[in-house]
This record gives sequence, C-alpha cells and structure tokens, in this order.
Amino acid sequence: MGKRVLVICSSPRRNGNSEILADEFIRGAAEAGHQTEKIRLAEQHIGYCRACYYCETNKACVQQDGVNELLAKLQQADTVVFATPIYFFEMSGQLKVFLDRTMPLYFLSYHFRDVYLLASAAEDADSAMDGAVKGIEGWIDCYEGSRLAGVVRGHGADRPGTVRATGAAEEAYRLGLQS
Ligand SMILES: Cc1cc2nc3c(=O)[nH]c(=O)nc-3n(C[C@H](O)[C@H](O)[C@H](O)COP(=O)(O)O)c2cc1C
Repeated sequence: MGKRVLVICSSPRRNGNSEILADEFIRGAAEAGHQTEKIRLAEQHIGYCRACYYCETNKACVQQDGVNELLAKLQQADTVVFATPIYFFEMSGQLKVFLDRTMPLYFLSYHFRDVYLLASAAEDADSAMDGAVKGIEGWIDCYEGSRLAGVVRGHGADRPGTVRATGAAEEAYRLGLQS
C-alpha cells in the first residue's frame, strides 16, 4: 500500500498558483500509488492558537472549529505537503495560523517524516521563498523525525495560473512522483 499524503493548501484563491503546484504534486503522488487528500484552509474557520495549553493535558485543542479533525488526518499522514502563496516574503498568515494550531500533536505521536513546501510568488527570484522555507524549517525542528524533503519555488507567478509557464508545476509533479 502506498503512503498517506496529506496536502494542505493555504491560498484563498481557488485554483491559484500554489494550489496548481499542490494538484501537480498530487497527480505525481497518485501515479506513484500513494493515497492523497487535499485540504483547503480557506474552507475552514480556523481560530488563532490561544496559548492556553489545554492540549498539553488533554491531547486535543479546546476550540471546536474543526482543527482537531484536521490534526487527526495530520497525525495519520506519512507525508505532509504545505502549499502557500508568498505574502510579504513569508508563508501566508493562513498557513502560519494553522501551524500554530498543530500544538496538540507536539504532545502526541505522529507518523509523518517527509514534509514538502510548495510556494508561489510574484517576484521572479528563488529568494522570494526564503522566509517561508525558514518558517517551515522551524515547524519541522519541533517535530522530531520529520525533515524537509523538498521545496518547489514557483516564482515569477502573479495572476492565477501563471505558475504553469514557469516549470515549477512540472517540478511539483516530479516531486510527487518521487515522494
Ligand atoms: C497580501 C499579499 C502579499 C503578497 N506579497 C508578496 C511578496 O512579498 N512577494 C511576492 O513575490 N509576491 C507577493 N504576493 C503575490 C503572490 O505571492 C503571488 O501572486 C502568488 O502566486 C499567489 O499564489 P496563489 O495564486 O496560490 O494565491 C502577495 C500577494 C498578496 C495577496
């Protein structure tokens, strides 16, 4: 049986550039025989972490906004893929808010090892993604055993769909195939 691949898309733009990268990764991963599931954070109402540490004693979040269900999927995944637009040279706020909400997993066991970052930005430079890479690396550092297995830098992509012209979509597909 293939791996369980959970893909978390954080752009509010449906079929935007980072979601195209996610879909291409999924196409590759599915061809490789993995089970894939895509979550769009824009379809959830995710509150901020309240730093109450309820999760430390209760192994779940106190907020009843659907994040506990997402965390169950994250906990069971073998591979996690984060797709984000670059906002002010960082990951999207939507993704950061979700990452903060993964705190309950810090007190639980989890399977994921390989983490991928798929990012799109208007600026045409590899460095446009550096802030997001650093942010994801910080999250990975807190989840022992996990590693940054690959990054796709879809730069020079502003309007939805323009990432297709950059070669990054092909890269995301190949990464999915190898995942
Ligand atoms: C609030 C906001 C901030 C942005 N900041 C940057 C930025 O700092 N650097 C950049 O290159 N592009 C920036 N962009 C452009 C997006 O990163 C770019 O259009 C990206 O491809 C959007 O991905 P999406 O279609 O998946 O939403 C910004 C866009 C928005 C809406």
